[in-house]
Amino acid sequence: MAITYNSQSRIFKLDTDHTTYLMGLTSEGYLGHIYYGPRMEHEAGTAPFRLPEFPSPSMLRREKIAFLAGFPFEYPTAGVGDYRESCLDVVGKDGAPGVELFFDSCSIEDGKPALEGLPASFAGDETAVKTLKIVLKDPVLGLRVTLLYSVFPAEDVITRSVLLENESPDALHVRRVLSMGMDMDNRDFEMMGLFGCWARERHPERISLHHGKQVLSSQRGVSSPQESPFMAILTPEATQTQGEVYGMSLVYSGNFEACADVSMYDSVRLVMGINPENFDWLLTPGSTFTAPEVVMTYSGSGLDRMTLSFHHFFRDHLIRNPYRGKLRPVLINNWEGTTFHFDEEKLYQIAKDAHGFGMDMFVMDDGWFGLRNDDDHGLGDWEVNENKLHGGLDALVRRVKALGMKFGIWIEPEMVNEDSDLYRAHPDWAIRLNGRDPSRGRNQLVLDVSRKEVRDHIMDQILKVFHGTSIDYVKWDMNRYLSDLESSSLPADRQGELSHRFVLGVYAMQQRLLDEMPGLLFENCSSGGARFDAGMLFYSPQIWTSDDTDAIERLKIQEGTAMVFPITTMGAHVSLCPNDQVGRTTPFETRANVALAGTFGYELVLSDLPDDERALIRKQIEHYHQFHMLNEEGDYYRLNSWSGDRLYDCWMVASPDKKEALVTYVQVLGRPNWRSTAIRLKGLDPDQLYTIRLVSGSVKKGPQHSSADQDMDKLFQTECRGDELMNIGLYIPALKDFESLLIHVYA
Ligand code: GLA
Repeated sequence: MAITYNSQSRIFKLDTDHTTYLMGLTSEGYLGHIYYGPRMEHEAGTAPFRLPEFPSPSMLRREKIAFLAGFPFEYPTAGVGDYRESCLDVVGKDGAPGVELFFDSCSIEDGKPALEGLPASFAGDETAVKTLKIVLKDPVLGLRVTLLYSVFPAEDVITRSVLLENESPDALHVRRVLSMGMDMDNRDFEMMGLFGCWARERHPERISLHHGKQVLSSQRGVSSPQESPFMAILTPEATQTQGEVYGMSLVYSGNFEACADVSMYDSVRLVMGINPENFDWLLTPGSTFTAPEVVMTYSGSGLDRMTLSFHHFFRDHLIRNPYRGKLRPVLINNWEGTTFHFDEEKLYQIAKDAHGFGMDMFVMDDGWFGLRNDDDHGLGDWEVNENKLHGGLDALVRRVKALGMKFGIWIEPEMVNEDSDLYRAHPDWAIRLNGRDPSRGRNQLVLDVSRKEVRDHIMDQILKVFHGTSIDYVKWDMNRYLSDLESSSLPADRQGELSHRFVLGVYAMQQRLLDEMPGLLFENCSSGGARFDAGMLFYSPQIWTSDDTDAIERLKIQEGTAMVFPITTMGAHVSLCPNDQVGRTTPFETRANVALAGTFGYELVLSDLPDDERALIRKQIEHYHQFHMLNEEGDYYRLNSWSGDRLYDCWMVASPDKKEALVTYVQVLGRPNWRSTAIRLKGLDPDQLYTIRLVSGSVKKGPQHSSADQDMDKLFQTECRGDELMNIGLYIPALKDFESLLIHVYA
């Protein structure tokens, strides 16, 4: 049984294949956390809580505060004397804070419930997944709180979310409702998060926990590139392959908080959910509120295992798009080549050229609608600009399709420029503070898509364009953060709902797009990778990872992103050098080898490429076609990180049947007078004899290289057993700065 409740000991036991999660009830009905870690076969005893320094209030009423200071609450509440970070803060009718939850009932069900209006994982096989619902109640407030735990045994994942129901005759103000809490003894834990900014998204960063609160969060209205809705708590010795790791990922695309609070008793409380800052939800009598889902996994064998559990889980239980598990079209996007300056002929020529090289899809980026000739105008006016696309969109789509290519298009539905017909007609549809000059980002304002009439207007316009032709792919962009949080449609006591309502509005819009265009290949994007989160993956099977397409910068961005998300969810394109963001020139092969990890494409004008680079494109596309399914279904392992040793980056993907693997090696800094480097592979069959073949190498043959380099291809025409490759390693010859190798290992 994946979930049991022992009514004698009052202990809940949740088992995945390799992990166990335990909670228990005190005599008063407080729900406490007992354990999360390696699987335990037998039931827990009857007194599993740490011996209380202060007995619970029914035994020692005079010292309740001392009890609350140490009890490992599973879902801690604010206002009654537990001063650590809480999950729930509710204000009742008399305006005073304070929540206290006591056990009411529980049930265990097959399958995994959907969460209303929110992205959420699904069971697939309803019998393989079980859900525990624990109902807690605050009798004073009349508040019912249901904690949901769904157990996915094969993936070693437990998901959690929370449902609030107001059973009282009075309205309640919910000022904080997080999705999970968990209390453990500190084991010198460290915390890992993914930090960054535009063009430097999701770099892994690891710190030691200290007393007090360590918080990762976003208040930008999107999950943000600065901090990600992901947190890992690790023992100090944890590496890729050893040590304990607790991973948590929030299935949500807006403001979030993840906090590790180390107490005076050296316990660590972990919480995660919607950011309480500026959050205030009016829960009217009889109404409900659902908190987004957290995906939790425990690994007793380092980060690799955590990553694999997340990857398997997101692939099989979160991504719904029909392109999941399929080859994606290799695309050419006109943005970096033309920006806003194009007409239908220029676009057609880009598509035609790309088709000549074997590309599968043309994507028309920003600039096709309204008076959008620069980023000051036109957002909000989703009508085709026929002064640019003479003859209309359908004529261009037909020409491109006649080549045998698919057609994709860019939109940014959540935004408006003040210089647009939409804004002139509905200035109150923008989010802005009454009486203040709003903060602009890229000269645009954010539309209040918490309002149904705004969502409907925008989606009606966009879908009218799309239904008038035949669109295969949509890139949904979002190029500024939220600020000036006031909605002209919400009453004063509901303004604190705006940020969450905005996110729900975005989800509703994306769901409508998918409902009306069921076969669509859909990609999310937000100023590059500002909304790369599990929430978005429920709608789109791929997300643009970063506007930074420099192959070396991408190594860190892709390492951090792939720590949580399947690699083929990462949009990755080859662009021109010197690179726009960093001015760096990297070999064309390296740009492709790095982009081949994700969904592959080109973002450049092909005629701007030198002949020797153009000559490589067909082969690169062949490589994508050959290896995408391996990347899609295989197990990803990080072999080295250049952000660690500053020298080289290396990762591999092994097929689930262990018959083949693809190794990518990038030399960031070459070492003079160096010998080969042994890379120990992972995930192979030790007894299997593998052939090793160089697929693509950026190593230039010539006088400046040694004679060994000149025979690079031959160096790899060898055979080795899996145990040799995993224990002795694969020898990579000395390479120079930015050179890279793509190596196929197959039975
Ligand atoms: C954002 C995206 C780019 C491009 C532009 C268009 O910056 O990240 O890829 O679509 O918008 O304005």
